[in-house]
Amino acid sequence: METERLVLRPMKAEDIDAMLDVFTSFTEPRFTRSQMLQWVHRNLDHQARHGYGLFAVILKGEGLLIGDCGLEWMEVDGVPVAELGYDLARSYWNQGYATEAATAVRDYTLRSLGLPDIVSLIQVGNLASRRVAEKLGMRLLDEIVRYSRPYWKYGIG
Ligand SMILES: CC(C)(COP(=O)(O)OP(=O)(O)OC[C@H]1O[C@@H](n2cnc3c(N)ncnc32)[C@H](O)[C@@H]1OP(=O)(O)O)[C@@H](O)C(=O)NCCC(=O)NCCS
Repeated sequence: METERLVLRPMKAEDIDAMLDVFTSFTEPRFTRSQMLQWVHRNLDHQARHGYGLFAVILKGEGLLIGDCGLEWMEVDGVPVAELGYDLARSYWNQGYATEAATAVRDYTLRSLGLPDIVSLIQVGNLASRRVAEKLGMRLLDEIVRYSRPYWKYGIG
């Protein structure tokens, strides 16, 4: 997928170090390489099973991997849902990149995959992520607790 400033392509095993740089830029405590390895491989398995997952977000021109954005099937309140997620390296925040990437994924999901709806689970208090969901036209459906943490459940469709 291509947007004005970005390319979204399937993730590869070789992306692990670039993804570790992305996560290291905002996680506290620091994400370890073995956690990142698990994360990437879970995503690669998802891609192999469904044909899509969290895409690598590449800055056009520079060819630099700056984050991920895409879909993950999960069970929420006992129902399987396609969850739209996004993570960007801190130095690229607040320039509209997450919205640009997630808009392409939203359209791909609803139009090309023909899925009826999308959900985004956002940790309560993550205002930047909530704002991205709002800019995508998602609305607050519920507030839920997942693995003992409160989440806003946003959705569209
Ligand atoms: C959430 C995240 C992906 C947003 O990426 P981004 O590229 O900065 O997003 P955009 O620039 O498209 O939009 C961010 C919006 O949030 C707003 N925003 C940023 N910080 C904010 C805050 N503390 N309070 C309220 N709004 C805030 C920005 O002003 C912007 O809205 P605007 O366009 O109306 O001005 C990025 O912050 C990130 O990677 N965070 C860490 C990982 C994460 O939380 N992922 C989401 C998990 S659900």
